[in-house]
Order: sequence, then C-alpha cells, then structure tokens
Amino acid sequence: MAQSTPAPRDDATAAIGAATSRIDGREKVTGAAQYGSDFISAPNLAHAYLHTSRIARGRVTAIDEAAARAVPGVLDVLTWRTVGDRIKPGKTFEQKGYMGTTIAPLASDRVHHAGQIVAMVVADTFEAAREGAHRLAVTYAAETPSTTFDSPGVEEKKVEAASKEGEEPGEDKPRVGDAAAAFAAAPVQVDARYATPTQHHNPIEMLHTTASWAGGKLTVWESSQNMHGFRNGLAEQLGLDPADVRVISPYVGGAFGSRGSLSQHTAIVALAARRLGRPVRMEATRSQGFTIQTYRAETRHRIRLGAGRDGKLQSLIHEGWEVTSRPDAYKVAGTDASTRLYACPNVDSDVTVVHADRPTPGFMRSPPEIPYLFALESAMDELAVALNMDPVELRRVNDTMKEPIHGLPYTSRQLMPAFEAASKAFGWSGRDPKPGSMRDGDWLVGWGCATSMYPTNMGPATARVTLTPQGKVRVQTAAHEIGTGTKTVLALTACDRLGVTLDQVQVEIGDSDLPPAPVSGGSNSTASLCNVVAKACEDLRARLAAAASQAGDGPLRGADPAALTLAGGQLRAPDGRTEALADAIARASPGAMEAYAENLPHGAKPDALRNLYKGQSSLAGGAKLKDRMQFAFGAQFVEVRVHARTREVRASRAVGAYAAGRIVNPKAAKSQLMGGQIWGLSAALHESTDFDLRHARAYNDDLSEYLMPVSADTPDIETILLPEDDRQVNDLGIKGLGELGNVGLNAAVANAVYHATGVRIRELPVRVEKLLDLPVLRT
Ligand code: MOS
Repeated sequence: MAQSTPAPRDDATAAIGAATSRIDGREKVTGAAQYGSDFISAPNLAHAYLHTSRIARGRVTAIDEAAARAVPGVLDVLTWRTVGDRIKPGKTFEQKGYMGTTIAPLASDRVHHAGQIVAMVVADTFEAAREGAHRLAVTYAAETPSTTFDSPGVEEKKVEAASKEGEEPGEDKPRVGDAAAAFAAAPVQVDARYATPTQHHNPIEMLHTTASWAGGKLTVWESSQNMHGFRNGLAEQLGLDPADVRVISPYVGGAFGSRGSLSQHTAIVALAARRLGRPVRMEATRSQGFTIQTYRAETRHRIRLGAGRDGKLQSLIHEGWEVTSRPDAYKVAGTDASTRLYACPNVDSDVTVVHADRPTPGFMRSPPEIPYLFALESAMDELAVALNMDPVELRRVNDTMKEPIHGLPYTSRQLMPAFEAASKAFGWSGRDPKPGSMRDGDWLVGWGCATSMYPTNMGPATARVTLTPQGKVRVQTAAHEIGTGTKTVLALTACDRLGVTLDQVQVEIGDSDLPPAPVSGGSNSTASLCNVVAKACEDLRARLAAAASQAGDGPLRGADPAALTLAGGQLRAPDGRTEALADAIARASPGAMEAYAENLPHGAKPDALRNLYKGQSSLAGGAKLKDRMQFAFGAQFVEVRVHARTREVRASRAVGAYAAGRIVNPKAAKSQLMGGQIWGLSAALHESTDFDLRHARAYNDDLSEYLMPVSADTPDIETILLPEDDRQVNDLGIKGLGELGNVGLNAAVANAVYHATGVRIRELPVRVEKLLDLPVLRT
C-alpha cells in the first residue's frame, strides 16, 4: 500500500478568497467519506426492492403476492392495501410543504404514471427482495395515457399571474408597455419557436433510504439537499413529532435538484422498518430513478423580438409551455429572468402548463434559466443575423443596469465586462460572421456565444461556532455537501474571521440535529451559510475583544474592542499590541466559547426563521425582491466543429467569463463553473429522455442510452472569474455560482452550429440527423 501523505492544505493563506483544496478531498478520494447510501452495516438490516408500474394511467386491480412470499428470505410485501392512509399525504413546496409531488404511490390503487411505485418487497437479503419483487403478479385496469405536448388527452392550463404581495415565485408573467403593437411596428422582427427535451439528473449515488427505529424515534440515512424539510415532512407523513426524526446525510453523491424534495419512497421504507421492527434499506435501480424522482420536463417556447435597425429592442414577447403531471402544476416559469435581461420598453410573457400522465417534474440544475434562456439567447442570435450585427454588439446595445418591468436597479451587473473578457480569451475578433466560412479541412467550424444569468438567492440560516480553549474551531450547521465544497467555504470563513489555520477547523454538516440551514438549491448555500458563520465568528471576536480590553493586566488592556482583529492566531490591536488567541480565550471564558447565530436575507418575510425551523425553506432574491434585482452574470463562448461528410458534431472549445460577487474559494468556484460548462455542452449535444408515445414511458432510462459526454466529448474549457464587489446582496458580497456555469451554454452551442452550417437548430439536442441538409454545402 502506498505511504499515506498529508492532504495538501493551504493553511498559511486560509481566508475568504484563497484558492483552497477541499478539506474533505482526501476523505473523498480514499473512499473514507460516508454517503447516505453507505450506511449498510446496521445489525439485522433488511433490504427492500421496489416494484413499479407497467402502465402509465389506470388502476391496480389485484396483486398476487404468493410467489413473492414463497421466495426464501422474503419478510413483507407493502402495497396500497397495507400502506393506504398509514402514510399521510405530503404537501408540495407550492403548498408550503416539502414534497416534489402530491402523488402518493401506495395511498390508493391509482396509477398516475409509468414506473410509479406499486409495491415494495422486504427480505433478509437484497437478492431475495429483488426476486420477490419480480415475482409479484400485478394486474391493472389500464387507460390510454397522454405522454407529452400534442398527445390526445393532455390538459392545458395557463399560469395565472401571481402578483399578490409576498406571493411566490415572483410574478410569473412579467409585462410592461404594449408588446404586441410594438412588435408589429418594429422594422426588424424575429418570430421563432424553440424546444428543450426531458432530462434526468442521474446522480452517481443511487436513490436510497435506510430507516431505523429505536424507542419510537426514527433515524433515516438518505442523501438530501434539504434535511430540515425532510425531517419535518417525514414527521408529518408518519404522524411523529419532528424531534423524534433524525436525518443523516454527511455527503451527497450528486443531487442537482433531485434530492431537494422529500421522496415518495422514504416514508414507505420507514413504515416497512416499523412493521418489521428491523432497520430497512432500499436502493432503487437506475431505471427506477427515472420515474420515482423528479426530472426536468420538456418545454416549448415562442419568442418574438422586435428591434430597430440600431439593434435596440422595441418588443420582447416570451411564451413558454411546460409539461407536468396530472395532479400537480409544477412549473419553472423562467420568464422572470428572460423578460428582465435586456432593456426593452415593451415586454410580455405567458406560461402554460400541460398536464400529462407523467411523474411530477421538479428542480434540475438552474431550473428556469436553462430552458428559457436557451430560447431567448437563440432568438437574440437570430436577431443579430437579421440585423447583420455582431452578437456581442447586440448584447451591448441592449445592456441595462435596470430591469425593464419595474425599472428596478441591478445591485451589480457585469454582463458586458464578462463578454469582453470571454471574447478576448476566445479570440472572437477573428470571427468571420458568414456561416460556413471558417472551414478546417473537412470540418466546418462555428463560433457562438450567449448570455448566462442566475439569481442571487438566499435563505434564512443558523449556525453554531465553538472555540475550544486550545483555539480549535468547530462549525455546525445542518447544511449539505452535494459536491460543491460546502465544508471548505465554511472553514475558510471561520479562518478568515477567527484568524486560525484550516487544520484548526472542523466542520459538521449533514445532520438534522444541527442548527437548521436552508435547502441546498438555487445556488444559495455559500451566500446563506458563510454570512451566518461570519456572524457567529463576529460574536466570538467581540467577546474576546471585550474581555481583552477590559483586563487590567493583559497586553490589550484599554484597547478599543471594535478595533481588535483576529489574525495569525492572535488578537491584534491597530497599534501593534497582540495577545495569543489561547490566552485571549482563557481570559474570556473558563471553557469553550460557543456562539449561535441566525441570519435573514434581504427581503425575508418576518416568519422566515420560524419557518426554517419547521423545515420550510423559502429563498429570497433574484427577481422576487421589491426594490432591487440580484443576479450573477456570465458570457458563454463555444466553438463547434461539424464534419462536412458525416455531420458528426464536436464541441472543440468553451470559454466562459463570470461575475458572481465575492468568490469564497476560487479553486472550487472554477470547478463548479467548469462542471456547469460541461453540463451545458451535454444538454446541447447529448442529453434527452425519449418517450414511447403510446405508453408514456421513457425508453432510454439507463446510462447506456441516456447520452452524456465522456472525456473524449469534453473539449478545452477556460473559466474566467471577474472580480466583483457587491455588498448590497449581503454583508460578505457573495452571489453564488453553482448554477451559473451551464446557463446559456446550450444556446451558445446552437448558435455556433448555425455559424458552422447555416442550420438553425431550435429544438435540443443538436444531433446528426438534424444536420443532414447543410445550406453552406449547397452554395
Ligand atoms: Mo438546484 S436545481 O437548485 O439543486
């Protein structure tokens, strides 16, 4: 075995803004990190396996369990007859609950979508449970399902404008002026329709739950992005006191929104464990993960842009259509962002949800901006072509520091600096705008660009910071490590504020018994959590400073406590006097010092903290504030190569520049943004869940057929971070960037494909079969 070497740590420079290796990197690469699904060693653990529906609409008429129960080791079979109302229906986020859907699989015989859970078999071994689940004989009364847009039987509902005070999310239908008249009168017009496909998150860690009861208390190991919501929601479903439920999720093996809501299967596994009096673990298959969890639904768009010959927008109309399930009206409604990106006196928007026999969709990385900005940023490229104007210049002409609907100012907006930095790094000035003009042998080369924007969201947050007499620091908050480096940014904040080194700091997250943190979604975690940890550290600093300045015999006696700072393991006065941190702690406290802090974002409702403790995590920010707009911005540039004979499409370069406020850990931030850029390429060129329209069922529900880029598909990627100081968003000036890197990338790819080939692909993904007829080869 290789000699173990200490993890690389940048101790000397640990502070906010220092590029730092993850403090948990070593644990992760050595396999020591415990994910929710790793808790498999409970004594007497039983295993569960799901049986999911073959039909997409109808009823379960009978379940013959005899063959399943005959499998040696099978202990129990849960169906709608055994579960029924023993699990109370969960409320969705829109109903101030915690679930992604109101579909309650074993509550009745009703089947709402293909792949819905219809039974769960529990056995001594995983293999016996699986065998039992396969041997269940389920009969159905099937009805004809509706799969997607244009399917017979779908039900369309226009989204009502939510304009009442305090209503979420945002307005849904921003409008100003007379957009229809201005469009009709505009000298240059673009009127085009776009579409994005269904996508599934497919985190590498499979969906799973392990549930264990002891003395009426329930402990659940499940990877989650929202553990207080999870705890409270599960308590509600099972009729328990939330204090009797504990959720443990130290590391999350990928989530991307799929673990933001409480899953349908969790309460079923908990119920099975209670019935058996044994801990039960369920792990779903990859294919089951396509139907028992949320996903990104397909969308359609019609965009109308009217502009003057100078390129200035006179009218912008964005209509969106989204698919959802029969019972739930989930929507992403991204016109909140797309109508506010550019200066335009006349704006209109409209969103329609289309109910089909499908699982309820949900959050998936940058939910509203991904589809809605694909449409807008493709249309902007079409407008640039119609105007014979450079696409970067078109963005400059329409840049604004105030959103057009209410004239609210952006707290900061570096869209054009981002375009300048990225276009320079990309070499955009060498672009010949004529499609097909940049050939390299048999390859048609295309360059495209697009805007990225993502709201600066924040949630109410709490944290506890403890300082031991030896100067060691413990940071505790029920936050989530979804792969983004949460622990490291929290440690850096503590180092920055308490003047200690990284190896002195221990961060505890991922346990619902810790002080509550908001859902890890909407790119809010770094802003929400670092600000509250800084607040707790300031409390400690103030107490140390007060004790030091009041001490009759100490080196800092008489100093102004407000001017004392913690750095390099010392408490320091501006005049150069110092006291060692351990001495200062001993002076201030007989033992460890503990500080608990709460922080509310700008625009939070008065009951936000109480709701956080109840597990209701509502975020403030973006376009929801009444007096300002908070967004991070970026510019996406892509080079594609399309083979003139085979039409093979390759992304060969991507350059992105991003301004997202203060960057706590530039190393992790770059990785996050780069991952987003890769996902953007994936979304544009590879990903699509495809359906058999007769059965409302996905036929590529595994990783061999759901295409994703491998390293060979991933080109040179450059990620540029622009400095940005914006203290209006929050005290530390953090905007968040987890979801910024992939927004707009899909449009940049399609725009580059147009530049290479003269083919405008308005329906993602870009695939060979859409490029059979290339106009640039006809001339
Ligand atoms: Mo994200 S889709 O907000 O986990």
